[in-house]
Amino acid sequence: MLSKRAQNLKPSPTLFLVAKAKELQAQGHPVISLTVGEPDWPTFPVAAKAGQEAIEKGITKYTPASGTVELRQAIASKMKADFDVDYGVKNITVASGAKFIIFGALQMLISPGDEVIINSPYWVSYPTMIELADGVPVIVECDEKDHFKMTPEKLERAITSRTKVFLFCSPSNPTGLVYSKSELKALVEVLKKHPDIIIISDDMYNRLMFDGSKIAHHILHVAPELKDRVLCVNGGSKAYSMTGWRIGWAAGPEKIITAMSDYQSQSTGSPSSISQYAAVAAIKHADPDIDEVVKKLIQRKSFALSEFKKIPQLRVIEPQGAFYLWVEMRSLYGKSYKGQKILSSKDFADILLNHFYVATVPGNECGCDGYLRLSFACTEGEMQEAIRRMASCIEQLS
Ligand SMILES: Cc1ncc(COP(=O)(O)O)c(C=O)c1O
Repeated sequence: MLSKRAQNLKPSPTLFLVAKAKELQAQGHPVISLTVGEPDWPTFPVAAKAGQEAIEKGITKYTPASGTVELRQAIASKMKADFDVDYGVKNITVASGAKFIIFGALQMLISPGDEVIINSPYWVSYPTMIELADGVPVIVECDEKDHFKMTPEKLERAITSRTKVFLFCSPSNPTGLVYSKSELKALVEVLKKHPDIIIISDDMYNRLMFDGSKIAHHILHVAPELKDRVLCVNGGSKAYSMTGWRIGWAAGPEKIITAMSDYQSQSTGSPSSISQYAAVAAIKHADPDIDEVVKKLIQRKSFALSEFKKIPQLRVIEPQGAFYLWVEMRSLYGKSYKGQKILSSKDFADILLNHFYVATVPGNECGCDGYLRLSFACTEGEMQEAIRRMASCIEQLS
């Protein structure tokens, strides 16, 4: 009955895990979910109020497929402030979430067989999105000695005549690690030798930085001359805690943006008018709220790191941004829980979920076994209890 495309489709593993956790919860189990990439703080009042105001004012109709001019102007001003680049409204498109932005960009850039270079560990959705565009994900393994980041040598080696896009994310989901200025410069040197490659910079977490900076280093900071090849992706979901409002955007070359906007006009249509109105308020006025949230995240990170010291079998890679802990668990390989052997991070994550009711994302899903991704966008109490259960699980392994 279904198309070939449907038969090859893998559902989002994180959303699958969220559903599984909810199912266990519905059965009455005390599940703590550290899976979903979602802030636990509410949408900032300035944005929530604007959303209400939009409904009251009747701003409840279609907008241009690429988003309202007001929102695109607000994004352009932000891009100017953040990266000192000049974008007009024709360089910006807004969609129902950054996920659809990346999806649409790949649909518009990739012809069958074109290659997209990503590093592993990667955000769970990248490979499937590339495949859905008939592209080939070229996954470059970047392990701990590379701080899980792409190196210039590895990038150079991965490039072929079919390479169309280099897609990367900083701060990274899943590791929370951030490319330094010099690391970006080194990648730029390689990319300059290959002028046909489009660079997609997934900046979803770039305001959630733990070193006191307002924004993560960016490829446009170190190489503004690449502006005509860089597509910047961002949105309301993470820093502004607007996951359910579904607003994401891209800024980049007009040709790509127009194609993405046309694609959208024939698929989802415009994003929600109400959400767009709220996003304008968030972008213009929520910076002080973000500062508060970042302070809270830094505290939570320190708390989680100190609690994890109680479990010597697990090693946490300290994140520099976003809200994930990347936790190494390879010392547990070969151990068993009630006869169930741990041979991968998925095995351990399954035991944690089914027997200790702690939901985590196994590194396999991010293309990097031996690690778990844990979100610390939760209360310290939840994190403490999750860590206590993990310790109890590990104690009971034979
Ligand atoms: C790295 C990364 N990019 C993009 C997205 C998409 O976010 P949204 O579709 O909620 O805007 C996410 C969300 O989890 C993400 O982690």
